[in-house]
Amino acid sequence: MEERSPWPGVIARYRPLIRLTPDAPVITLLEGNTPLIPAPRLAEALGLSCTLYLKYEGLNPTGSFKDRGMTVAVSQAVAEGARAVICASTGNTAASAAAYAARAGVRGIVVVPGGKIALGKLAASLAYGAQVLAIEGSFDDGLRLVREAVERYPVALVNSLNPYRLEGQKTAAFEVCDQLGDTPDWLVLPVGNAGNITAYWMGFTQYHAMGQIARLPRLLGVQAEGAAPLVRGHPIPHPETVATAIRIGNPARWREAAAALEESGGQVVAVPDEAILRTWSLLARTEGVFVEPASATGLAGLAQEVAAGRLSVQGKVVVAVLTGHGLKDPDTAMQQAGNPTSIPATLEAIAPYLEQI
Ligand code: F0G
Repeated sequence: MEERSPWPGVIARYRPLIRLTPDAPVITLLEGNTPLIPAPRLAEALGLSCTLYLKYEGLNPTGSFKDRGMTVAVSQAVAEGARAVICASTGNTAASAAAYAARAGVRGIVVVPGGKIALGKLAASLAYGAQVLAIEGSFDDGLRLVREAVERYPVALVNSLNPYRLEGQKTAAFEVCDQLGDTPDWLVLPVGNAGNITAYWMGFTQYHAMGQIARLPRLLGVQAEGAAPLVRGHPIPHPETVATAIRIGNPARWREAAAALEESGGQVVAVPDEAILRTWSLLARTEGVFVEPASATGLAGLAQEVAAGRLSVQGKVVVAVLTGHGLKDPDTAMQQAGNPTSIPATLEAIAPYLEQI
């Protein structure tokens, strides 16, 4: 029989490459090791003549890429004696913080924009036992609030302002290179608070400096048109988009993201909500990959730029990061995909649907 070596989680897998207090307890849900899925049917449907891969981060333990950063941030917080962690969130950071707080046996406090986070994220945060505080305000208001709160109270901030979050999230870049056996030509991803794009660039540059990869990729960051501060060059006071995960007007890692985009020779672009939803549907229907709307934003931006002739990926290897699972946002899915067809439980009733085949 083959020897079994189970995946140990991102800290144990990449420990020498991650900055973390040496004696920190490792708080892990065995996150990471997500699949890199070839997507030829989607590439064709989007009019892309490249080799396209999907890094399906929705398959992390709480359904988003946030778990990679949360394992490191919560481990460090516990090492420093924290008894509670806090974050502001559009939902996924909240669910992840809540889960890792539960795993660590510390309190989790999450601040979310009231009525503006997807149902699956709210349900999960509550189920994990976090104190969920829904504010009358936006994500940006919430982030301001938690930054003030940690100045006064002994609670650890686990937003991506916390450098340990980025230490964990950069492991996604290591994995992409390990799985491909090379550097992709382009890495495409949605940008909200801009922690993830910053972390990917940290990961790629670290691997490059170590000689693990011979060259660096270019980054394509994509924002929703109604929430595109990086594209517009100024904060957006009232951001709006169907992709609630990235409904952010003043990203915390703005400066670092802009530097990463420039160093990589990359671009940041904005896409309308209709394009996000169209791409979301294509992902599910052409490849069987169900994501939340924010996760389709990167590919929508790539398709838009290629169609407009502003970008060529012909013959290139492109990795699109799919940041969160489709089950996070069942409301949008139902609005877009429609209702089931109700029939009696008889062969006569089912027959017309089979005869169409
Ligand atoms: N995709 C999803 C599904 C997200 O939840 C987020 C961010 C992003 C993309 C953008 O990543 O912020 O690092 O640029 N969600 C945060 C949250 C803001 O609170 O869950 P980013």
